[in-house]
Amino acid sequence: MSNTIMSRLSKKAEAEVPAATPTEILLKLLATEYQAITMYNSAYYWVRGKDRSDLIPEYEEHKKDESEHAEILEELLLELGGDTFKNADEWRLVSPTEVPTIGTHEAAAINQVIEKSEVEAVELYTAAVQYFHSIEDEATAHKLVEILKDEREHLKEVRLEFQGKTSAV
Ligand SMILES: [Fe+2]
Ligand SMILES: [Fe+2]
Repeated sequence: MSNTIMSRLSKKAEAEVPAATPTEILLKLLATEYQAITMYNSAYYWVRGKDRSDLIPEYEEHKKDESEHAEILEELLLELGGDTFKNADEWRLVSPTEVPTIGTHEAAAINQVIEKSEVEAVELYTAAVQYFHSIEDEATAHKLVEILKDEREHLKEVRLEFQGKTSAV
């Protein structure tokens, strides 16, 4: 990948400006999935044994979904003649500039981090679906639409959870 393309890819999500080639777009999505897996894993440990350990099943379910999304993207990358990340440096270059970090066991604060990440996922997948439609790769677009449905559901659930928490206080 050229430096120009890499710098474009490493910018924060810009839904209306799809980046470069099909495999580069899929790599960007894969990077965000890896981050989402890390984020939910982190959330799990921060709430474990604390007041809101009831959130654990939701975090576990979302983490499982993100892991499945990563697998689908990895398969798509190989099908389209690309490759997954060769090393951590390559992954960091493509990853969003802001890595979601959880450093609290306060459920409301955790859910804000998760909400931001899921909003970004919805934006990225929406742009990617549009892109694959535009190049008439309907098979890939269809698979990404299925993932997008999950991301929208994640966002809905975290928002409902957040509202539940704030209204209960
Ligand atoms: Fe995902
Ligand atoms: Fe998600």
